[in-house]
Amino acid sequence: MQREPHLSNAALMARRHAAVARGVGQTHEIFVSRASNAEVWDVEGRRYVDFAGGIAVLNTGHCHPQISAAVKAQVDLYSHTCFQVLAYEPYVELAERLNALAPGNFTKKSIFLSTGAEAVENAVKVARAYTRRPGVIAFTGGYHGRTMMTLGLTGKVAPYKLGFGPFPGEVFHALYPNALHGVSVDDALHSVELLFKNDIEPERVAAFILEPVQGEGGFYVAPHDFVAGLRALADRYGILLIADEVQTGAGRTGTWFACEQWPVAPDLITTAKSMAGGFPISGLVGRAEVMDAPAPGGLGGTYAGSPIGCAAALAVLEVFEAEQLLARSRTLGERLTAGLRGIAASEPAIGDVRGLGAMVAIELFEGGDLARPDAALTRNVVAEAARRGLILLSCGTYGNVIRVLVPLTASDLLVDEGLSILAASFAALR
Ligand SMILES: Cc1ncc(COP(=O)(O)O)c(C=O)c1O
Repeated sequence: MQREPHLSNAALMARRHAAVARGVGQTHEIFVSRASNAEVWDVEGRRYVDFAGGIAVLNTGHCHPQISAAVKAQVDLYSHTCFQVLAYEPYVELAERLNALAPGNFTKKSIFLSTGAEAVENAVKVARAYTRRPGVIAFTGGYHGRTMMTLGLTGKVAPYKLGFGPFPGEVFHALYPNALHGVSVDDALHSVELLFKNDIEPERVAAFILEPVQGEGGFYVAPHDFVAGLRALADRYGILLIADEVQTGAGRTGTWFACEQWPVAPDLITTAKSMAGGFPISGLVGRAEVMDAPAPGGLGGTYAGSPIGCAAALAVLEVFEAEQLLARSRTLGERLTAGLRGIAASEPAIGDVRGLGAMVAIELFEGGDLARPDAALTRNVVAEAARRGLILLSCGTYGNVIRVLVPLTASDLLVDEGLSILAASFAALR
């Protein structure tokens, strides 16, 4: 069959809609032709500032030359053996590096998988194997992936869970604290106690799993007293604490793992997305004795911890050191927060500007009334910004949050350009 020339986004979108199932959503009707750091060009030659980073995957930017070079070198050596069949050093080195980075004054071990959902699945497997208990407590508004277990853990029905149940049993949801929407830390901790009373005794709970900052849920930051309260409950009842850092990890929040900023350490941490700068690999790092609970053969996967992913992840760690990206994450966060507060000063719809490090978001309400989340305005701003050359992503339980996940490697100039487009988009919709 003769290929159509790739002329327009519209023509390619028509082919996409005819050939690809509609369940795979589409935020922007744009086909990319190339990308570099925090800029993307579409098939029609239009340039965009990228504030989405492929949903938190590109903390080191598109096509970082050092990461691309590491991947190319790895591909020429060997691209696949399956680690369980023939081992390779990059996997071990990556495990050593992550074990050293993870917080907690105890020995750690790691495994690698391919996707964030797989990392979460394995966290649950490991926690159940160690505790020999079935229950898992997740939180409202949380997002953990699209496999059946991770959908069960996810605390938002539409669109992720619609029509896909039943999900695995013994999963319960407690309240995630959210001061803006009326859920205090006490309410949230009390809701865990209520689960113990109404649904499952604590002695049958293997783990709590939470995001240090909810990603898809709306960039709400878990307060330290909440995390400390959970840790205390976990210690009292022999429950494990899992930090799902698929979105928050790899330097997004100003530290490699967001939970480094917690007053307590989790037992297990999931990681994926930006850990390999655009190449598919995920990981699970945690207490050595917990990680060693499953018997040999119980963990792994054909592509799990692929050599290409490991090489990319090691290169990402080098880039973080060479370019001091953790410090950059903090200064970028300050710049974004100041810029967004500036926009909020003249846009009453923006009811909140929040975040941790460079994981920053704004939340929109009709006329600034915190009782009326404005999903329509959110959609319109995202669309208007794209027309003006800025790629944004929305999120949130009410679909009224705009999140910024611009590469940490983006220049101040480019970040300011993106912020100006956002301001102009709001102004155009007034
Ligand atoms: C916190 C969190 N956990 C798990 C996942 C699932 O990761 P993946 O899409 O790579 O399976 C995501 C993805 O957005 C996430 O944000």
